[in-house]
Amino acid sequence: MAKYQRLMDEIQQQIEAGIWLPGTRLPSLRQQVAQQGVSLMTVLHAYELLESQGWIVSRPQSGYYVAPRALAPAPLSVAISEQVDINDFVFDVLQATRDPAIVPFGSAFPDPALFPQRQLMRSLANVSHHLTPTDALHNLPPGNATLRQLLAQRYARQGITLSPDEIVITSGALEALNLSLQSLTEPGDYVVIEQPSFYGALQAIERLKLKALAIPVDARNGIDLVQLEEALQRWPVKACWLMTTLQNPLSVTLTPERKQQLVALLARYQVPMIEDDVYAELWAGDAPPLPAKAWDRQGNVLHCGSFSKSLVAGFRVGWVAAGQHAQRIQRLQLMSTLSTSAPMQLALADFLATRRYDTHLKRLRQILAKRQQMVRQALMKVLPPQATVSEARGGYFLWVTLPESINTTRLYQRALAQGISIAPGQLFSAGEQFRHCFRLNTAWPWDSRAEAAIVKLGQLMAEGQAD
Ligand SMILES: Cc1ncc(COP(=O)(O)O)c(C=O)c1O
Repeated sequence: MAKYQRLMDEIQQQIEAGIWLPGTRLPSLRQQVAQQGVSLMTVLHAYELLESQGWIVSRPQSGYYVAPRALAPAPLSVAISEQVDINDFVFDVLQATRDPAIVPFGSAFPDPALFPQRQLMRSLANVSHHLTPTDALHNLPPGNATLRQLLAQRYARQGITLSPDEIVITSGALEALNLSLQSLTEPGDYVVIEQPSFYGALQAIERLKLKALAIPVDARNGIDLVQLEEALQRWPVKACWLMTTLQNPLSVTLTPERKQQLVALLARYQVPMIEDDVYAELWAGDAPPLPAKAWDRQGNVLHCGSFSKSLVAGFRVGWVAAGQHAQRIQRLQLMSTLSTSAPMQLALADFLATRRYDTHLKRLRQILAKRQQMVRQALMKVLPPQATVSEARGGYFLWVTLPESINTTRLYQRALAQGISIAPGQLFSAGEQFRHCFRLNTAWPWDSRAEAAIVKLGQLMAEGQAD
């Protein structure tokens, strides 16, 4: 590594560790020369590069200072220990929601009883009767040809033209997202994520040793495009992992205009976007929202979807419409999971071709909307003053913001002791910003057990205020 690079890394790490706070004057060029035993040119080069990346600013006649945070959104350098905490915590929360005795408000999945189990089993039985030994080979990456063609047809119905060859079938959207991120980055690269964000994004960043730039997402308008542009100006961002429809956990959907602006902005900076669109089918209103991919003219958006939230979670089938990146993603898949289970791909192809997926989706959306409304109404009655709940605008999550004095990690533990799970805000950020928020899953049956659980949560929130 070149000397100037080593010095840059050292100063960057010191700023991230809080040794040099925003606004602090850094050692002068001459002091660095003396301390580091390097030439003036080396120090000058390192400082200039740090300045061009937005870490520091120079003041004439005065020296170099750490850039103010307001200008440069501080990278959420995902400290390993912090991430391990997140992983353990995510694991605990997911485990808790698997116990049928627990009211699953913390779950990420919808009530599986809403899925067309019998029709899915018929499709599975149908393909198993005709499965040949070579079928498994024919479904290696990029995946089953019929399934990819059926997916391309669904895109075409939305006015998005893409070849089945651009689609790679994966083990759920999670594999699609992870492989996409891996294909676009090297360890140490900067990646834009949302704040709050789906915890899978935080875990992927930790696993791939990337640096996260977390851009605020507003529950009404979605991602802050001004801050996003600032980040793109200041950091060499290699990829963005964003949700433009029914963002998890806020359930906000960007307007078509803002989706278009987002795609144009990223195209201008030539930064690819991984669009996580797993809740796409669960929209509310008169017409389905288009993904940001619909405005992508440069092959800059890798659109990831799956059947896990809308048809069947356990088949573990998802995909990425990856365009020019499809080849590299296939290679990464061959080196990791090899392929998605062949019978599951075949069964889904059979289901999409012969059953009524859209009829099922219509019914699913109606039930989810009704349940979301019921839970929201009940919740409004028990919330402490000053608490807010996100609007019910599709999907099956509500985002609850409590007064800052209530710690939802503690609320989660107390609720769990009473047989109720919630998804505390801590899951959705590497920082502390959402310790007074939680996500509530509204997709499960609205019955006396759920009603009693909401009342109990209300009591626990009131007690939490007194802590
Ligand atoms: C936002 C988001 N993306 C991706 C996934 C993973 O989807 P899949 O189950 O298809 O892998 C989830 C699951 O909870 C999710 O909430």
